[in-house]
Amino acid sequence: MAESAQGLLQDKVVMITGASSGIGEAAARLFAAQGAAVTVMARREDRLRALADDIGAAGGTVLVAAGDVTSPGDVERAVTATVTAYGRLDAAFNNAGWGSVGTPLHKTDDAVYDQIMDVNVRGVWNCLKQQIPVMLRQKAGSIVNTCSTAGSFATGAIAPYVAAKHAVLGLTRAAAAEYGRRGIRVNALMVGATRTELMEAEIERVPQLEQGAVARAVQQRLADPREVAQAALWLCTEHASFVTGAGVPVDGGCSAV
Ligand SMILES: NC(=O)c1ccc[n+]([C@@H]2O[C@H](COP(=O)([O-])OP(=O)(O)OC[C@H]3O[C@@H](n4cnc5c(N)ncnc54)[C@H](OP(=O)(O)O)[C@@H]3O)[C@@H](O)[C@H]2O)c1
Repeated sequence: MAESAQGLLQDKVVMITGASSGIGEAAARLFAAQGAAVTVMARREDRLRALADDIGAAGGTVLVAAGDVTSPGDVERAVTATVTAYGRLDAAFNNAGWGSVGTPLHKTDDAVYDQIMDVNVRGVWNCLKQQIPVMLRQKAGSIVNTCSTAGSFATGAIAPYVAAKHAVLGLTRAAAAEYGRRGIRVNALMVGATRTELMEAEIERVPQLEQGAVARAVQQRLADPREVAQAALWLCTEHASFVTGAGVPVDGGCSAV
């Protein structure tokens, strides 16, 4: 509790999607330790409950809202549960996403294309539609969408993911432009290769992926999920009060060279 008494998100309410593992889980732990009440959303409820137990044991406040971000109803329920429990929503980290590398565009199943567009783009869309009305009533809010280096340039055989993450950056800029005058900031994180379950599964399938990712980053390594969560934290706080519509690189310098 001593730590949260001076937290950067003291008494703020934050919704985090994709919180059952990786970057979202790291963000849930970090934001709660910084004093926020966090709503955690993902499909695997057992993982969310275990996370909530950990956060609760450390003195944090957490609400589990299991659901699928591709479902407008699930997202609406998560936002409503948050506002019902805490009275508002100060920030949102729309982080749930998925992609898979290694299949050439012309051999990619339409179903895979649909799935990748659904979770990454429709998921963020669903979140924005539910979160923005709450923030408009408050005349304040900060939204961070998890994008990727693939949102700025093409990497490897991963066309649907590149298209989806470009769309996430587009949605981020559009929402920032529309709502900037009404107190809402919207930013994206342009995340480089990060050691999460998603990345570990891809490396297992395509081992050369790791070497390529390390070679691309000027820091010559993958990110730890907590390093990405720190950038999301900053964007959610007043320390980033004049930052909106940005795609903030968290990529070990990969986009600099
Ligand atoms: N790791 C990297 O190298 C990297 C690089 C650039 C960008 N990113 C982005 O970072 C974000 C987080 O990924 P991660 O690397 O942390 O991978 P991860 O460990 O696999 O986490 C992905 C999270 O998204 C959730 N999720 C997936 N589909 C969902 C859906 N339909 N509804 C609700 N939640 C869903 C997963 O939970 P459930 O399965 O329980 O639903 C999980 O909590 C993604 O947007 C990803 O595209 C990752």
